[in-house]
Amino acid sequence: MIRIFSILVLLLASTSYFAEEETETPPTPMELAISDEMKYDSRFVEVHGSRMHYVEGGDLVSKNAQVFLFLHGNPSSSYLWRNVMPHIEPLGRVIAVDLVGFGQSDKPDIGYTYQEHSKYVDGFIAALDLKDITLVIHDWGSVLGLDYARRNSGNVKAVAMMEALIPPAFPAKDYGVFGGFADVFKNFRTPETGRPLLIDQNFFIENFLLQATLTRTLSEKEKETYRKPFLDPKDREPIYVWPNELPIGGEPARNVAVVNAVADWLKKSSTPKLLLYVTPGALVSPQSAKWMQENYRNLEAIFVGYGAHYIQEDNPEAIGRNINLWYQRKFGS
Ligand code: BEZ
Repeated sequence: MIRIFSILVLLLASTSYFAEEETETPPTPMELAISDEMKYDSRFVEVHGSRMHYVEGGDLVSKNAQVFLFLHGNPSSSYLWRNVMPHIEPLGRVIAVDLVGFGQSDKPDIGYTYQEHSKYVDGFIAALDLKDITLVIHDWGSVLGLDYARRNSGNVKAVAMMEALIPPAFPAKDYGVFGGFADVFKNFRTPETGRPLLIDQNFFIENFLLQATLTRTLSEKEKETYRKPFLDPKDREPIYVWPNELPIGGEPARNVAVVNAVADWLKKSSTPKLLLYVTPGALVSPQSAKWMQENYRNLEAIFVGYGAHYIQEDNPEAIGRNINLWYQRKFGS
């Protein structure tokens, strides 16, 4: 009897209920919502002779699982979406791809223009045979996704976008669109200053990414993950090219045409659209969100908190939860 009692006491003492560790403070909702871990499995697929890296999760079994494709911009990767995807995963299959030259995708010897990225995104969707896609898009990923939707309306079910490079911000007549960063972006687009800033100093990763995440300081592990694809300055060409692709003052004309075509599609298309926006926002302010609601067809705009450009690092829970709820309102669960 005494023996059984001692065993019970030992067992109880070893469970967390009485253990000393229990005195630790439990994680706050913010700590639960933001993790530096990428919990999704890595995969690779060959596109135009290069390997494109992507992560995926959710329902990988059902043939008719709803597909959510996440497209990032500069200078990030699929890692940007790590804390948004878990909120959308219960709805189907979630896939986040690394643009060619970014993340763990290959770095072929190409020009990294918008048009080349677009060709790889098209190739990625074709290689995975993705159907009836809901696009979740940011920064340059927004133009790539919206332009795909414009050209392939029948294969895009809905679009959720944030900090998108579209009107009223772009095409921009001048650098005023960047507010306090006007001179910085002008310097990016001047080869004598742009190459030293973006290639030698790695300004986008070491400064802009950190400054445009407003509510917290990225952890060392998060910074390391963003830095990793670009440790060698030779690999930073894709980061340098993106700001030079922005349609400003009529140049480059090919991208003025793309963004104008996308804006036209946004005004006319009945495809359900969601805009997630923040205050103050970098490229999409609360005022521009109002303009988009008034000018774009079938667009709902939802405010998700305080932030600038990398709002997935500031507000992943509000972004993910609102995409999930919007999707269910539109299509059921
Ligand atoms: C770009 O690389 O073109 C860019 C990145 C962040 C904000 C605006 C533009």
